[in-house]
Amino acid sequence: MLEHVTAIRYVTPLREGGSMPGVVEGNDLGTYVVKFRGAGQGLKVLVAEVVVGELARRLDLPVPRMVTIELPRAIARYEADEEVQDLLNASPGTNLGVDLLPGSLGYDGSRPPAPELASRILWLDAFTANVDRTWSNPNLLTWHRQTWLIDHGAALYFHHSWPSRAPDPQRFVRQPFMADEHVLRAIATDLAGAHAALAPRITTDLVADVLDLVPDEWLETTDHLPDARSVRAAYADHLLARVETPQVWLPGGAR
Ligand SMILES: Nc1ncnc2c1ncn2[C@@H]1O[C@H](COP(=O)(O)OP(=O)(O)OP(=O)(O)O)[C@@H](O)[C@H]1O
Ligand SMILES: [Mg+2]
Repeated sequence: MLEHVTAIRYVTPLREGGSMPGVVEGNDLGTYVVKFRGAGQGLKVLVAEVVVGELARRLDLPVPRMVTIELPRAIARYEADEEVQDLLNASPGTNLGVDLLPGSLGYDGSRPPAPELASRILWLDAFTANVDRTWSNPNLLTWHRQTWLIDHGAALYFHHSWPSRAPDPQRFVRQPFMADEHVLRAIATDLAGAHAALAPRITTDLVADVLDLVPDEWLETTDHLPDARSVRAAYADHLLARVETPQVWLPGGAR
C-alpha cells in the first residue's frame, strides 16, 4: 500500500490543471498536490496515476512520492471558493497525493534531459499509451536540475472501455503510439536501447507489486471483473502482453 496521510488544510487550487488539483497540507507535515476522486474524470485516472507513476519509479525514472490522502469532510467547510468547495464535497475519503516539488518549473526544453533519460521516458509513455506528454501539455517538471515526470492519468486508456466490453489485452497490444507529438521526440534517440534495458524489468512480480499499491476502493468492478482481484489481473494481463510486443507500439520498432 501507499503511505496514507490525512489532509489538515486546503492551501490553494492549481488552476492550470484540467482537473483542478489542489495543494494540501498533510498531518505528516508534507505538502501534496492532490488529485481529487470527485474531479469528474473519475477514479480510473487515479489508478493510471499510481500504476504508471509507480512503474516509472521502479524503472528509476524521477517521479515525486505518492501517497493516499484522506480528506475529512470538515475541510470543505472553511473553503470560500464555491468551485473548490464543490470539488472537496465530492471527494470525501481516499484521494491521491503527489509530493509537491517546491519551486519546480514547467518543462520548456531549456534544460533537456540526457538522451538516455529522454528515451526511457518516451519508452514508458509508448508502453503505457500515455498521450499526455506533448509540447502543449508536457507534464514534466524541472526541479533540482532534473526532469521529473507527473500526471499519468491519461495513460492506460483501455480501462475506459471496461464497463461496456470484456477486457481484451490483445487490443492494447495492437494499439500504436503516436510519438511525433511527444515533447521529447527529438532527443529520445535510443528507443531500442531503452526497450532493451527496461522491458526485461517489467516482470510479473514487478507489475503485481505496483498493482498492489492501488487502493481496492479505486478499482471499479464490472460484469466481467467482479472483484478487485480480477481488475488487478486485467491490468497485469494488458501490461505484460504489451511489453512482449514492441513491434507495434515502439516508435521505430525494437531493432
Ligand atoms: N508534484 C508537483 N509539484 C509541483 N507542481 C505540480 C506537481 N504536480 C502538478 N503540479 C503543477 O500543477 C499542474 C497540474 O497538474 P497535473 O498536470 O498533474 O494536473 P491535471 O489536472 O491532470 O492536468 P492536465 O490534465 O490539465 O494536464 C502541473 O502542470 C504543474 O504545474
Ligand atoms: Mg497535466
